[in-house]
Amino acid sequence: MSNNFTADVNYLATTASIDRRKGSSGATLYVTMIAGVAALGGLLFGFDTGVIAGAILFIVPDFHLGPAAQGLVVSAVTFGALFGAVAAGTFADTIGRRWTNIAAGIGFIAGSALSALAPNAEILIASRAIIGLAIGLASVAAPMYLAELAPARHRGRLVSLFQLAITVGILSSYIVDRALAPQQAWRWMLGLAFIPGTLLVLGMIPMPESPRWLLKKGAEEAARRGLSLVRSPDEIDAEMREIQEDLAHNRPAEWSELLMPGLRPALMVGVGLAVFQQVTGINTIIYYAPEIFQKAGLNQATTALAATIGIGAVNVLSTLIAIWLVDKVGRKPLLLVGLIGMILSLVAVGIAQQFGSGIGVNAHWLAPITVGFIGLYIVCFAFSLGPIVWLMISEIFPNRARAQAAAVSTAANWMANFLVSLSFPMLTVLMGPSLCFVYAAMGVAAIIFIIAYVPETKGKSLEEISLQWRTTQPASDVRQ
Ligand code: BGC
Repeated sequence: MSNNFTADVNYLATTASIDRRKGSSGATLYVTMIAGVAALGGLLFGFDTGVIAGAILFIVPDFHLGPAAQGLVVSAVTFGALFGAVAAGTFADTIGRRWTNIAAGIGFIAGSALSALAPNAEILIASRAIIGLAIGLASVAAPMYLAELAPARHRGRLVSLFQLAITVGILSSYIVDRALAPQQAWRWMLGLAFIPGTLLVLGMIPMPESPRWLLKKGAEEAARRGLSLVRSPDEIDAEMREIQEDLAHNRPAEWSELLMPGLRPALMVGVGLAVFQQVTGINTIIYYAPEIFQKAGLNQATTALAATIGIGAVNVLSTLIAIWLVDKVGRKPLLLVGLIGMILSLVAVGIAQQFGSGIGVNAHWLAPITVGFIGLYIVCFAFSLGPIVWLMISEIFPNRARAQAAAVSTAANWMANFLVSLSFPMLTVLMGPSLCFVYAAMGVAAIIFIIAYVPETKGKSLEEISLQWRTTQPASDVRQ
């Protein structure tokens, strides 16, 4: 490990010095800064999905909410995100990737201000839906914008910053909830998202638009100007040519074409990955960790909460593994190793719980085993399905259909998220610990799907990836 680490540091140093020789260290720095700003959308995604868990405890008595209204306050975000993701397909193509990110930022600002000031449950639900719309827009537009601006050799790690930001957002929401709980300050919990929302809007305004979108719109000069900020001078011409050639040979796709043979295989990969990210159970832990830990024997609410914050921190730190490795070992090996680890952890938790409840004693070993394997599950998710699904959704589709296909895949992700988190409490009652085996079986199906259908995209330009699919594209889709 330490040898590998030294090799990695050397690799980074060599890459940096080659970049400097090519006069591109400024470009690398600039593209990293852009990634930092666009990733704020991820931070808000994580924060706004996580923060409600703590806030709802105080909203319920304040607004005298019944179970139905409570469900709406919590799930309005997921619903909003589903619609936001679909809308993002059209937005990203018409107003551009950059403005779609800005629109998301405006949604975050409006939604968080409105929810902090909400005088009644109706306005609170509406404001949570607005935040959901913003999350949907950001979850399509931010990774896509990053993928289209990043140089192929760093694309994996730059787009993975989006996932890193999601995990930082989730962790911050756990910490904010805990810090503000004694004052029961739910309005502050929800309102704090105003700050990163404002930073997202202000930060995005001076950023360049995606050169691929600009060329699609025929704005060659603006595309070249934008590209010159994020590439060394000797890289610009070749990349401009490559994108123009791709656009010249492929006409922009209509929505209805997504299901036709030319685009269907790529769409299947995007939707499949998006759904597997959710049906392997991640959000049963992210959303319900305190309850799971309490049931496993961490009886004190504060201990269960501390363990939850620990899980949040492990999630952040393990995402760094992906940032380190994704452009070196590739997407598929990380996905497969991560899934194997997730499956083994789920089976271990399932067996431990079954055994614990089976022998009917207050098994003191149940809590550490459950916390340990849930931790391992999070580690494995965080370097595999977490970042790589968002990365691949942003890179596997041809330029001509990227916005629509990414929108459909992301909407499928939100739909699956909604169904899994909605069904989890009921399924736990119905199935008990065996539910872990269901999520593990989904993991096995994911492995088979990835081996059979998912292409490796490491180091390839977006146009090279498009070409891979063209072998299956009907001649009518290709411009002569
Ligand atoms: C998923 C979210 C999940 C988060 C956990 C993201 O990639 O899309 O649903 O809550 O990872 O880190």
